[in-house]
Order: sequence, then C-alpha cells, then structure tokens
Amino acid sequence: MLDKQTIPALEEALEQLECQFATLPAGVGQALPPASPESLSSVLGEVAERLGENYPYFHPLYAGQMLKPPHPVARAAYALATWINPNNHALDGGRASTAMEREAVAQIAAMFGWDTHLGHLTGGGTMANLEALWVAGQLHPGKKIAASAQSHYTHQRISGVLRLPFEKVATDMRGRIDPAALERMLAAGDIGCVVATLGTTATGSVDPLPEILALRERYHFRLHIDAAYGGYFKLAGNLEADTRAAFDLTAEADSIVIDPHKHGLQPYGCGCVLFRDPAAGVLYKHDSPATYFTSEQLHLGEISLECSRPGAAAVALWATMRLLPLTQGSTFAQSLEACRRAALELNRRLAADPRFIVPFQPQLDIVVWAHRTKSSEEIFQQAALRNLHLAKARLPGSFFGLPQEELLALRSVLMKPEHEQWLDRIWEILDQVSN
Ligand SMILES: Cc1ncc(COP(=O)(O)O)c(C=O)c1O
Repeated sequence: MLDKQTIPALEEALEQLECQFATLPAGVGQALPPASPESLSSVLGEVAERLGENYPYFHPLYAGQMLKPPHPVARAAYALATWINPNNHALDGGRASTAMEREAVAQIAAMFGWDTHLGHLTGGGTMANLEALWVAGQLHPGKKIAASAQSHYTHQRISGVLRLPFEKVATDMRGRIDPAALERMLAAGDIGCVVATLGTTATGSVDPLPEILALRERYHFRLHIDAAYGGYFKLAGNLEADTRAAFDLTAEADSIVIDPHKHGLQPYGCGCVLFRDPAAGVLYKHDSPATYFTSEQLHLGEISLECSRPGAAAVALWATMRLLPLTQGSTFAQSLEACRRAALELNRRLAADPRFIVPFQPQLDIVVWAHRTKSSEEIFQQAALRNLHLAKARLPGSFFGLPQEELLALRSVLMKPEHEQWLDRIWEILDQVSN
C-alpha cells in the first residue's frame, strides 16, 4: 500500500551523491552520538507505531480534507537532499538548491503566463499570502485588503498582523465574489488590494476574474490571486467556461500564490509566492552584516521574509517537475482532470438522490452536500467507522437554498486521481451510512 519502489533508486542516487565529495577526508558527517543499528530500529519502530495513529491520508478512501500524498520522486529527492541539508536562505547556504528553486519557480510563473517575475518558495500558502499582502500594504499604505467571505481565514489574520484594515466581500450562491458587492466597496475609495481566490478552501469556488479585472480598470487596486489550492487547475482541460475564463487571466494579476504542497505533489511545507513586477524585490532590502552576496542578482534570501528555508523542498519540487512538466495535456494535467471528473460524478450521484441537498456543481474537485434529515456529524462518524473519511464544513444556508444562516455540511476533497476509480466504493459506504 505504501510505495517502497523508490528506495533502491534513492540508495543509488545517494551513492552517486557521495562520489561527488570523494576528495574529502572520510569520517565526517556522522550523527553524534553514533546510534547503534538496534537503537535506530527501535526508535524508528516507535515512530512507525505513532504514525499509524493518523487517518490514512494516502488512501483513496480518505476523501476528506486537502491532503494528497507527495509523488514518490518528491519524497525520494527530498530525502536525498537532507544528506546535504541545504538552506536556501542565501546562495552560499544552498548553491545547487537555489538554482533548482529558481528554475522550478520560473516554470510555475510560466504556467501562469509570466516570462519575467520575482518569486520564491515559502513554508506554505499562509506565508506566501503574507508576503503578497505585505508587498500590497507597502504599495498602498493604510488602504484595505478585500477578500471574499469564502477566502481562506488567514487573509484576515494576516491583515491584522500587518496592521492593514480588512473587509470581506459578499459572495454569490456559488461561493464566488459578487462583483456588484465588490464595486460598492470599491466606490468608497479605500481598498488597496483585492484578493481573488481561485479555488476556495471550503468549496473550490473560483472568483470571477474577468469581472474583477474590469473593476480594476476603474478603481486601480492591486490584484492578488490566492491560488494556493486551485492554481494547478490552470492546466486542466475539463473546466467549465467561467472557471476557464478566470484561469485564462492569471497573467493579469500583480501577485499569485500557489501551494505545491497541495496539488503539486510535494511534501509539506512548500508554498510559492510570485510577483509580476520583479521590482517588488526592492521592498525586501535588508543589510544583515552576516549575509554576504555572491551574485549580481537578488538572491532568494534577499527576496523572502523567511530566512532559513529547506533547500530540500526546492529539490523535491524541481525533481517532480522534471518528471511531470507543467503542460496542458500532460500526465500531470490529466491527473487533475481525473480529480475533477471524480468530483462531478460524486456530485451527480448526490444531486440525483432525494436524500441529499447539493448546493452547486463543483468548479474544481471539492464536493459539498448535506443530508436532508441526518446530521453531517453522524454521517461523518459512521462513514469513518467503515474507513471512509469525509470532512465537514460550516457553510451559508443560502448556498443550499435554506433559510438558516449557516449549516454544517459534508465535504469531500477528491484530490487524488485514484478517487475516480474508487467512486463506486465511496458511494457504497456513503449510501449505507445515509439510510
Ligand atoms: C485558498 C487557500 N489559501 C491559503 C491556504 C493556506 O495555506 P497553508 O495551509 O499552506 O498555509 C489554504 C489552505 O488550505 C487555502 O485553501
């Protein structure tokens, strides 16, 4: 069940790596104090025991939160890099992995339609959004950040940390920014940055970028795209027309966040922030006496708020994209299309079954629904007893055409392409626990 095929390849690559340092005297690089094979095995055995307490995130019957196993090549490349343990805080701390980070980030920027950019990896989407909003705040000091009522909760918190005023924009019945509501807010003249989410956390809704860009023509705000979850769907060939229209316009944003540790097959933490205008680098300027510069270009430590960052994350991402390039029609793109098909099919079955209420057709691969008479909590627990792991989400009653302000719905993030093949099994369990 757990992939072990990469272990021989990892051993081989490790030998190859060691050969490159063959001129060094032997005997260094040992862990201190040296551990006996028995004590190592014993501790690792304990770790394996403890890890078994997790839900089986890697299995297709885990159909709950946004959790996706890393690609085996990412896992192996990450592990391989830890033997060197590069730090991408500065060029001299992670020489090779810095170059790999630059190449990987440039490919992501190209996917969004940018030939030039400024960008780097971060610990995750929250840190990446923090950097984007920090830049927005410096360029529009004192002005508000506006993000949809369905945007990730951290936008409001980040704005608080940055001491920037924050306002929520109402959504339509599909959880997308309502352009009329946004325009009413913009008319007050105090919004410096609008966050458009391409793939909201709860429902995978995609904000209407064409309408938001039309408003930018008139109100001149900065546009940040939070595509932490949905960004890679830019490559999917089976989006509905208005979702596609939003993804087609990503190049118009001022900054974009995407999380390779969500749909990009990476281990945690791997987020990415991108700025369209490389001049944003000026805002990061610092003059730490301990950091010396070995490049004409701004190095990654100079354009990131975090100092130490795992070179291993860059190595893993680079290796994954080498194997699975970010192109339309590729194996990678097809895997996203499979996730979306799985979501559409689950949604179709739910919508056709009178026991359930579904609010709307998924825009990406996240499905939400409620049972007409049973509580979501009960279904969640009963399904888990049969190994089907769902998630729950508090959503506006209006999404479901219900009068109450909020309801606890069931939610399934079908982000593993295998979910498509497992849908009958998932449905069988859901059917049993919903009677
Ligand atoms: C749309 C969106 N933005 C930001 C985040 C935060 O990302 P992270 O958990 O990597 O910090 C999430 C996480 O689910 C998200 O869905």
